Amino acid sequence: TAAQLAEQRGWQIYLVGGSVRDLLLIDRYQGATPTEELLFDDIDLVVDGFHQAADQAAGVELAKAIQNFFPNAKLQVHGRFQTAALLWHEDEALGSLWVDIATARTEFYPYPAANPEVEASSIRQDLYRRDFTINALAVRLTTPHQGELLDYFGGILDLRESLIRVLHANSFIEDPTRIYRAVRFAVRLGFQLEPQTESYIHHAIASGIYAHIQSEMEHTPALQTRLRRELKLVLEASYWYRALRVLARLKALVCLHPNLEMTPGLWRQMRRAHRTLKHFDKANSLEHWQVLLELLIASLEPAERGKVAEGLQLPAESIDRLSHLHTTEAAIAQTLPTCDRPSQIVDGLSPYDAETLVLVGCRSDRALRRQLWQYLLHWSQQRPPLDGNDLKQLGYRPGKDFKTILETLRNATLDGQIATVEEAKALLQR
Ligand code: CTP
Repeated sequence: TAAQLAEQRGWQIYLVGGSVRDLLLIDRYQGATPTEELLFDDIDLVVDGFHQAADQAAGVELAKAIQNFFPNAKLQVHGRFQTAALLWHEDEALGSLWVDIATARTEFYPYPAANPEVEASSIRQDLYRRDFTINALAVRLTTPHQGELLDYFGGILDLRESLIRVLHANSFIEDPTRIYRAVRFAVRLGFQLEPQTESYIHHAIASGIYAHIQSEMEHTPALQTRLRRELKLVLEASYWYRALRVLARLKALVCLHPNLEMTPGLWRQMRRAHRTLKHFDKANSLEHWQVLLELLIASLEPAERGKVAEGLQLPAESIDRLSHLHTTEAAIAQTLPTCDRPSQIVDGLSPYDAETLVLVGCRSDRALRRQLWQYLLHWSQQRPPLDGNDLKQLGYRPGKDFKTILETLRNATLDGQIATVEEAKALLQR
């Protein structure tokens, strides 16, 4: 449909980006890679071949024309970049699908790390602005030459040789988030960073990438969004640990803060967080990637933590958590050793959210950590044998005493004095 609609207007459309790469990789990975990596639920199309200025919004027009055929699709238009997206959510025929339709364009960067400025141009230039040769392939969907594979930059050879290679030397300076993408693709696909590409990464980092990012972030909030997106993609992937190892080797964490580096202690904390979150997830829905990221940021000086979290546009509670972590840690380290009974520990820890306690637990010594884990995994979820409704049925009236009775039951349960309804009733009679 899309191809016909484009042809009617005298345009060409191309399938570009990740789906072309993944289509070409299907054979290689059949049965050997997690299928979720090759889902094809995110498709990028580029429209090209127009001659008039009015056609610069070709992507948007085409998206609207496609939507006429598929009224189930939701349309989103991003005016400034002449791109549109069609979204199907849990559609009966299509499942969930996201189709981005862009107008062929070159992006030139007026200064390093800035947001790309846009001007209408041809498919070759559109592909040239992309990150890696394996992502700069296109398949023509319109006639003539329908099905033709466009490979201007040697992407096919790099796919065959399992190499992540940038298209030009300035790629990482223009867009530092590509450092994270290079590592993510390399680890995920089992590829190598092509040596010259790796040397460009070293050069970008050595040239003071953090200062670049900081000064550009003021003009381009989109850079922060992209950086956070890449961090999320890396840290939520099953291969996050291996990816982080490569990022640490490249010293790429300085993109977040010049003093951020992976020490043996920080690696231990990250492994602990991963293990704890896995157990803990049964009862809670913590954002694992965010806790891991917060743990990285927590390794910085207290005064820097909130600033970095803010710079990455983390949620307000995350910024707050990191800004106050040093006082929270001091308070917990002071309270816990004075508690003899589980009920006292629960009283001491219940004001804090689970994310805070995971952070503190991963960073603290063994004794404190054991208490925190016990609290998170057991005590915070333990319920007395009788709840408020049971008490009402037993004839107790809600009020001040009622609350005290519930607390007594909870404490007795936590401290192992009662476990059954009979024991609870016996306690009430005492
Ligand atoms: N792209 C880029 N530079 C970036 C981000 C994206 O050049 N910083 C280009 C790449 O050509 C990429 C395309 O935009 O293929 C789409 O980006 P995205 O959806 O993030 O990547 P995919 O390649 O589709 O990867 P994934 O399979 O992880 O979605």
